[in-house]
Amino acid sequence: MPKLLILPGSARRGSVNCKLAAVAAQLATEAGAEVELIDSNDYELPLFNQDLEDAEGLPPAAKELKAKFTAADAIVFVSPEYNSSITPLMKNFIDWVSRTETDDEPSLSAYRGKVAGLLSASPGALGGLRALVHLRSILGNIGVLVVPKQFALSGAPDKFDESGKLTDDSALKSVRGVIRDVISLATKLA
Ligand code: FNR
Repeated sequence: MPKLLILPGSARRGSVNCKLAAVAAQLATEAGAEVELIDSNDYELPLFNQDLEDAEGLPPAAKELKAKFTAADAIVFVSPEYNSSITPLMKNFIDWVSRTETDDEPSLSAYRGKVAGLLSASPGALGGLRALVHLRSILGNIGVLVVPKQFALSGAPDKFDESGKLTDDSALKSVRGVIRDVISLATKLA
């Protein structure tokens, strides 16, 4: 079974995207995948700056995250929408992981041929859908195979119980559908 990384684009306490990421991780585990749910607070990275990279290379947290991307067969990105796009945290992760560490390393090595699934959650009516439009474009342009199915959870703060369970059956079915397609494509490509 494929190795899946689940990456939330929020480090906020009580984040609805972190809750959705945890639901996705559980569904993927139930489907038999090997799953790692990332806690974005574990990867405190400076805002990407090429001067910093030239002086010091990749920070340890960026190397660690890049190694996890490289080892995974698929990544599920779970992003909030900020002003109609992805969060600076998510873009910063994507940018640091996109960098090479040696001259002979192929560019975008952590991304090329990787499978991705997209999820978002927001209090708003669109559920963060506009962020996913941008995320799909960014990932597609760096060689990631993003599955067509995606899901944006609207009214998100009201859709989890106190234990973090997603209480909306239709939403749960949609998340399961994305996870199933990610596992299926990653398995075919393995
Ligand atoms: C938001 N939020 C928001 N929501 C949305 O649906 N569309 C948007 O364009 C924006 N824009 C936006 C900008 C900024 C700077 C912030 C801080 C927030 C609201 C956002 O969806 C809400 O705060 C979520 O709860 C953020 O996700 P987490 O942190 O709960 O996962």
